[in-house]
Amino acid sequence: MAEGKPVKRRSMVGWYDPRVLAHSAYKLVIANIFGRHSDTRLIEALASQPQNEFDYSAAQGDFWFDYVADIGDGWNSTYAVADAIARPELLGTEAGRVLVFGGDEVYPYPTRSEYDVRTETPYSQAFAARAHPDVFAIPGNHDWYDSLVAFSRVFCRPERGFAGCATRQTRSYFALKLPANWWLLAIDLQLGADLDEPQVQYFQKVAARMDDNARLIFCVPEPRWILEDAYPSHSSYEELSSTRFLEEKVFKRKARVFLTGDLHFYKRHENAEGVQKITSGGGGAFLHPTHAPCTHRLTNGFEQRAAYPDEKTSRRLSWRNFLFPAINPKSGWLYAFLYAMSAWLASASLEASDVIDVKTALAATMNAAIRDPLNGMWLVSVVGGFIFFTDTHIRSWRILGGASHALLHLAAAFAVGWLALLLTVNAFDLAYGSIAQLLLSGFITFIVGGPVGAFILGAYLFVSIRIFGRHGNEAFSSLRIQDFKQWLRLRIDAAGVLSIYAIAIDRVPRRWRAAQRNGKPTIEAHDARATAPRLIEKVEVRP
Ligand SMILES: [Fe+2]
Repeated sequence: MAEGKPVKRRSMVGWYDPRVLAHSAYKLVIANIFGRHSDTRLIEALASQPQNEFDYSAAQGDFWFDYVADIGDGWNSTYAVADAIARPELLGTEAGRVLVFGGDEVYPYPTRSEYDVRTETPYSQAFAARAHPDVFAIPGNHDWYDSLVAFSRVFCRPERGFAGCATRQTRSYFALKLPANWWLLAIDLQLGADLDEPQVQYFQKVAARMDDNARLIFCVPEPRWILEDAYPSHSSYEELSSTRFLEEKVFKRKARVFLTGDLHFYKRHENAEGVQKITSGGGGAFLHPTHAPCTHRLTNGFEQRAAYPDEKTSRRLSWRNFLFPAINPKSGWLYAFLYAMSAWLASASLEASDVIDVKTALAATMNAAIRDPLNGMWLVSVVGGFIFFTDTHIRSWRILGGASHALLHLAAAFAVGWLALLLTVNAFDLAYGSIAQLLLSGFITFIVGGPVGAFILGAYLFVSIRIFGRHGNEAFSSLRIQDFKQWLRLRIDAAGVLSIYAIAIDRVPRRWRAAQRNGKPTIEAHDARATAPRLIEKVEVRP
């Protein structure tokens, strides 16, 4: 970010904005085709960069470092967390010597300007006139949407740095040698794919330099321990082999702690041996639900020990889906189009005698849907689209859920179209089938269809998450909740005990003002309703 440039403060990404939807879908398809099936020259070049482990083991006294994931969304949430991380002291902890970004460093998709405005600017403002940690990062799925072009520019060029902080890595994965024989191993699994050969070789080289008492912390891009439980027949989650392969074949010991983001909340799972699996994705992105799917007891023997926000709060927040049209006004365009098109296609095959009453009109519409190929194709693609959208790994549920959701919208489109017809014919006294009547009723259907469709989607998401525990992502990305942010601060003390502090900000500031910090310009919160950072819990992992 150039100094002196006015700071742009973005709001939370509107995931149901048709432009964001279309662009994300396009990026995702491209990333899936090229990211999964071919290696770009850039990735090859990245993989051939020399890189050893980064050694912090000689640090004296307590060694502090921070772990934050899923950052780079709206200004309020991203900056609130960045500013709290950068404070020299907080709740009896000290700012980290190292800052690890655990994935999804930017939303909705990675570009130079999004990284600049949504990620780097908040962090450079937060670190202004404060101590700068060394920054390391692994990519999450959102960073992979451009095959790591922007990510590698921001994080893998040590001569460039990030937000005034030193960066040292030249690849998208790395190993940190920490005091007391702790090692942090940050793994890049691309878009859910397996490990690549250069990465395996890198970690083999690192493993050869470990002694027998090395203790491992794995940073991984997603909480597969939760996902494989929620979607048991999802093939890519079954391929759990990557981290297991590293434990068994490469490092020949088990990791003591797993850190990840990807789901935007805090959950800690522990097994009988005291292995910690921590999901900590509250660095800035919209909140995910903690109540659904239920993750109290995972099939792999891990039990949930903590969740933030608590399930009651999460459940309460899901009611906000009934405000869907107000929270996501731009989503209305999609439904306006869907409803107007459905009404248009149906009306094209109706005669004046078909619309004498609602029953006849409905029968004629259904008749047209079956007999007219264009109508039929529209119907099939609408129902197909909703089936594709439905979030379940069980095919029969997917068809049932998607088809009911689609039929609800088609019924609503019929009702809106019918009311528009009545209004134009009865209230405006226009002749049925005249150009004026058709244009006006089409317009009314378009205008009313938007909010009605968005409301039905909100209601569908509410029912899905409350009754079936599904659509957690869709039902909460729709709420665009910027609060309930959190990250991890970690300490290794002289005795080798690893303490993990989970720190939360319940409500982030909405209002800001320009300020000076030791003579350097920065931005500070100016919002009495915002809450101060607080400790969720502290966990100790003994050597
Ligand atoms: Fe994320």
